[in-house]
Amino acid sequence: MAGLDLSPHPNLLVGMETADDAGVYLVDGQTALVQTVDFFTPVVDDPFDFGRIAAANALSDVYAMGGRPLTAMNIVCFPSCDLERDVLIQTLRGGLEKLHEAGCVLVGGHSVDDPEFKYGLAVTGLVRPDEVLTNAGANEGDVVVLTKPVGTGVLATAIKGGLAADEDVAALVDCAAALNAAAAEAARAFSPSACTDVTGFGLAGHLLEMAKAAGKEMALSLSAVPLLPKAVEYARMGLLPAGAFANKKFCRPNMDARGELDPLLLDLAFDPQTSGGLLLCVAETRASGLLDALSAAGVSAAAVAKVLAPHPSGLLTIVP
Ligand code: CO
Ligand code: CO
Ligand code: CO
Repeated sequence: MAGLDLSPHPNLLVGMETADDAGVYLVDGQTALVQTVDFFTPVVDDPFDFGRIAAANALSDVYAMGGRPLTAMNIVCFPSCDLERDVLIQTLRGGLEKLHEAGCVLVGGHSVDDPEFKYGLAVTGLVRPDEVLTNAGANEGDVVVLTKPVGTGVLATAIKGGLAADEDVAALVDCAAALNAAAAEAARAFSPSACTDVTGFGLAGHLLEMAKAAGKEMALSLSAVPLLPKAVEYARMGLLPAGAFANKKFCRPNMDARGELDPLLLDLAFDPQTSGGLLLCVAETRASGLLDALSAAGVSAAAVAKVLAPHPSGLLTIVP
């Protein structure tokens, strides 16, 4: 966005300067709009599953801001000469299924012919101005809870390499296509201080974003990170996507590794995620209540990190 004149607007509660999940615009005292857009190339072969994953991913940024999705528009880049029309129809059906599940209404969309298939959505949601969650509010002593396992990046690489079994594909799809809606709703009662979702920067990268935004040190406990089945096995086979190395390189200046770290678990902390879970910061006294509420809502979550003392430039400490 460098070179653009992004003059602040009095109604713009969350804009582009904070690397947050979505923009938030104040409509009146009771209501703010949450707006986000996301689209990408297929991560699995089945077009219906791809549609479900792309929609769950696009909706997630609304949940990450404390909002509830209201309307959505499809964005399609489609190689009409190379792919059958049914691929597009199945993809859009998958996306629509997730919108229905989210109670979000499809109002339109736009498609262009493109050599590389891409699909995603622009999603608009609503949030009460006093319930907006950003990635910046983490308080010293908070516990950071992650609401999905990690490993979609290595699993997707194994699938692309033809090495994955059917159950690995199913594990990836189940994880990535799951809405973050239940986790977001369960979290409301525990007044999170900050929230984001885990996507391309990986668990460690998004934690560091939160640490930077809050001006705190955070400590990630590698052994506490829930992993998809076979994620470690595929990491051991060297199936880490290139993005994981880029993420590690990006984080290194603000990172401190302590103790004997398992190199595979460390690699997986940087694995870029597709439609990952929420990272919720809550006061330590509310953490076990939140974990119970998430479990009751059918969300498998884990406390993966702690928010430590103020640190002006933000620091991610990684411990075994
Ligand atoms: Co996000
Ligand atoms: Co996004
Ligand atoms: Co148009």
